[in-house]
Amino acid sequence: MKLTFAATAALLPALALAANHFRGLTAANAIGGNGAYTCRSQAQWNTLANDARNTGFTSIRIEGFDCNALDMASSAAAAAGLQVMAGIYVNGNIAQGMVGINNDVQTFVAAYKKYGAGRYIGLTVGNEVNDSVYNIMQKVYDVRGYLRSIGVSTPVSTAHTWVFVRDNPEMCNGDFGAANAHAFFDPNTQSGGAGNFLLNVVRPALDRACGGKVWYITESGWPSRGNRLNQAQPSLGDETSALTQLNCAARSMYVYAFEYDDQYWKNGATEQSFGIFGKVDLNGNILKAC
Ligand SMILES: *[C@@H]1O[C@H](CO)[C@@H](O)[C@H](O)[C@H]1NC(C)=O
Repeated sequence: MKLTFAATAALLPALALAANHFRGLTAANAIGGNGAYTCRSQAQWNTLANDARNTGFTSIRIEGFDCNALDMASSAAAAAGLQVMAGIYVNGNIAQGMVGINNDVQTFVAAYKKYGAGRYIGLTVGNEVNDSVYNIMQKVYDVRGYLRSIGVSTPVSTAHTWVFVRDNPEMCNGDFGAANAHAFFDPNTQSGGAGNFLLNVVRPALDRACGGKVWYITESGWPSRGNRLNQAQPSLGDETSALTQLNCAARSMYVYAFEYDDQYWKNGATEQSFGIFGKVDLNGNILKAC
């Protein structure tokens, strides 16, 4: 087909927009590709932050403060010009995790003072905590009230699966909504449909649950190994396809790509193999479609 000048020109803005549209990149506190859970060093966090910046990410998300991760990730983010979505990990249910949460809140306050309010997009208290909505949200309100009382302005929420948030709209009563949504576990979605799953299934559900409130997909990705789940096939090609579509979907919602690198200490090949860096080509391939 011969393109007219006008048709050719019309394509240019779209090509110029090809970019990283993810809101950020989720990263574990342990180094990638290691069977034993081994904390990242400051130098390794710096490499991670530079990798993130060089592929167009503007923030990183952590899901726990073990391994001194909040301080090291914040330091690396500051050096690379990135922001942080900080996540407190809750060990067990809210009552069981209470002491840990309260300690982590103090760790957050220290980092907030050290790296500044502008470094932090938000603070999530718990990721997929196995407890009642009431208990989870009471702790969110408690942490938020405490932080406000000492002048810390970071938005506070909690992250859970998108299905749990959909079914329990009170989960959006923090300062923002935060939901993990992996099309792989749908599991009636092939990798090429991962973006449309977010756009057509998850987005309307979270819009309804959260009303006009800003919400984030705090995890979305695709594994390269493990067992097929119905339509969902893990492979490097499928991971590439899914991330390509997720980046396109991320043009109209806040999505954190999950996750920086493979985490072999996790349970089973599927959970271990959502890693992106060192496996698939973001700049040369995935980010070009949108
Ligand atoms: C969640 O907690 C309940 C009891 O509080 C327990 O029976 C169940 O096994 C827990 N689920 C997971 C996935 O840990």
